[in-house]
Amino acid sequence: MRWVRLKDALPGVVLTEDLKDEQEGVVIFKKGKKLSNADIALLKSKWNVSWLPVETLDEIEEGNYNAVDATLSSAIELKRSIYIEKMRELPDYEVPTTISVEIIKKALDTVERIVEEIDERGAFNPQSVKRIVSEVVNEIQEKESSNIQPILLKLRDYSDYTYTHSINVAMLSLYLGINLDLNRENLISLATGAMLHDVGKCKIPKEILFSERKLTPKEFAIIKKHPIFGYEIARESSLNDRNAEEMILDHHERLDGSGYPRGKKGDEISFFTSIVSIADEYDAITTMRAYSNARNPYIAVSAIIEDAGLGKLNPDVANVLVKSMGIYPRGTVMYLSDGSKVVAIQQNPGMLVRPIVRVLESEKFEKGERLDLSKIDLIIESVIKKNETQ
Ligand SMILES: [Fe+2]
Ligand SMILES: [Fe+2]
Repeated sequence: MRWVRLKDALPGVVLTEDLKDEQEGVVIFKKGKKLSNADIALLKSKWNVSWLPVETLDEIEEGNYNAVDATLSSAIELKRSIYIEKMRELPDYEVPTTISVEIIKKALDTVERIVEEIDERGAFNPQSVKRIVSEVVNEIQEKESSNIQPILLKLRDYSDYTYTHSINVAMLSLYLGINLDLNRENLISLATGAMLHDVGKCKIPKEILFSERKLTPKEFAIIKKHPIFGYEIARESSLNDRNAEEMILDHHERLDGSGYPRGKKGDEISFFTSIVSIADEYDAITTMRAYSNARNPYIAVSAIIEDAGLGKLNPDVANVLVKSMGIYPRGTVMYLSDGSKVVAIQQNPGMLVRPIVRVLESEKFEKGERLDLSKIDLIIESVIKKNETQ
């Protein structure tokens, strides 16, 4: 079973549980009901429902496929293919990819399996994590480290958040780790901790984790326990990697003591953890979340610079992030001084304020044209907020 938001649901979805009004508790539709367009419209207008429990891809593949209509199957295809499609688009952006689609897919499978194992027996197989992490590190180390850019998976479905977020934070942490010259052994620990940093969220009730409304202080306190739950799961699973365990427990701690769960300070927080915290914040800001909209990569980098300035995040790691991602990271949409609307596609080393961009709309340039802002006489005038771009 997976959860989809009512506003994203397409006709043809089949409920895997009785659907109840979230405030009144009355059953609206029975388990097994296939929702039509009219049913979805009714739910939107008459009931307090924000999430629907629906079949997973696997359940549908296991024999139920004919029961769903074409609309649904195309919606479900999204679950897997979206990451891959996103990445296939990238060669067009002329940015060297960090790792292959096959490995990303394997990593996603591993994270999904870990979550299932935890649901079943409260622990996961640490070997499967180490195996995929060392494959990823091998592949990254084979490439010129100066020539890579992390590819962050786009989230299209909240129920996939845990998976895509784990992989993104692992990739981004590795990318930072390489730029900080960590050795292979340390990179493996770093990616292991990063991939598992939010594993404790498996123990948080979905209604709280994916809540669309503002959380009550009590619910927020429950969410804040996920680092402790994660640490316990890692111990229970005999991960036997102290660095990774610390990253799981401390990734929400901040150097000035303002973090949670323990309010640790300065040296009590490891360097590895500082890397994961920054990768985590970057991905959290740029990814759509249940309780806040996705924001521009520019906003994420600015927030990290600000938090480093406030003494919360490690300034050395933040500097590496800025140097490597640039001030206008890939994906940032902006207006140039002649009114052209462009998207950043690549950094210009040493010229952080003049990235390479692709034209989205312009009176002067062709749509899709590639411009190197270090070579032309135009400057970035403003950055467009995410909701303005779509
Ligand atoms: Fe977390
Ligand atoms: Fe996280």
